[in-house]
Amino acid sequence: MVYDIRTRSGAVMPNLGLGTWRMGENVAARQEEIAALKQGLDLGMRLIDTAEMYGEGGAETVVADAIDGQREGVFVVSKVLPHNASYKETLAACGRSLKRLRVDRIDLYLLHWPGEHPLEETLRAFTTLAEQGKIRHYGLSNFDLDELTRAEQLPGGSRIVADQVLYNLERRGIERKLIPWCASRNIAIMAYSPLEQGRLRPDDGLRRVAARHNASPAQVALAWTLRHDNVIAIPKATRLQHVRDNAKAAEIVFTEEDLADIDRAFPPPHRDMPLETL
Ligand SMILES: NC(=O)c1ccc[n+]([C@@H]2O[C@H](COP(=O)([O-])OP(=O)(O)OC[C@H]3O[C@@H](n4cnc5c(N)ncnc54)[C@H](OP(=O)(O)O)[C@@H]3O)[C@@H](O)[C@H]2O)c1
Repeated sequence: MVYDIRTRSGAVMPNLGLGTWRMGENVAARQEEIAALKQGLDLGMRLIDTAEMYGEGGAETVVADAIDGQREGVFVVSKVLPHNASYKETLAACGRSLKRLRVDRIDLYLLHWPGEHPLEETLRAFTTLAEQGKIRHYGLSNFDLDELTRAEQLPGGSRIVADQVLYNLERRGIERKLIPWCASRNIAIMAYSPLEQGRLRPDDGLRRVAARHNASPAQVALAWTLRHDNVIAIPKATRLQHVRDNAKAAEIVFTEEDLADIDRAFPPPHRDMPLETL
């Protein structure tokens, strides 16, 4: 079942949402993309992750059409590009995103990855935007533990509610420190590319677990990311069958045997490693 995660600063978001990278790039695919997002919302995946980068703003306009008439029940996440993340430019970028999304407030606004502008400035802009009611919450993306620890010390840092990072069966490095560190502070981890963009290594162990649950390997991979209390997964799917499969994945409950089989097939790292990105 999809359930709500509550972070510090009172953000409440579903643990399974919808990604939008590669949407809004192609006019011919637009109606299919809108239908996929609407289907996901109908099935309870009521968080949509987008960014000013995706389709150069095109994905945000797809989201606008998908949430039309049901804005209140959807948790909308967008991101500012690092090169726009000065104080002044963050305010301007957020204004453009609000316009494309056709909403008056973004529920969670993230810095897409660490960049050249001092993070103090970006956090100051996030604080201003929150005071103006243009964003409800803010966070970061692609920040490793050392960077997040520094961010936490800056003015406004204690209000960071999420770090969106790469996490899937083949990218387990964050299990060692980042996930527990965030859990202890009530910060959400948003797992991006939970299906490794459809390129997960085929594996017999994974297939066995999938067969036990009458599920596909992709459903098992997705459900597996959701086993932590503070992790939200945001798979992207344009095909309606994929959207339905992803919603159903939230119903999978793993046994100890399943988890052991998965660990054998995709072993957890035995040493600390830098955050991986795509
Ligand atoms: N913050 C960041 O830097 C960052 C980076 C990457 C991604 N993201 C966010 O995370 C979202 C998800 O990541 P992603 O798009 O990179 O990759 P992903 O969700 O791991 O994989 C998407 C691919 O998997 C396929 N798929 C979806 N559900 C499936 C299922 N049940 N069975 C088999 N295949 C399935 C999709 O096919 P169809 O589309 O054909 O259905 C698509 O080709 C993005 O869309 C974006 O919102 C953020």
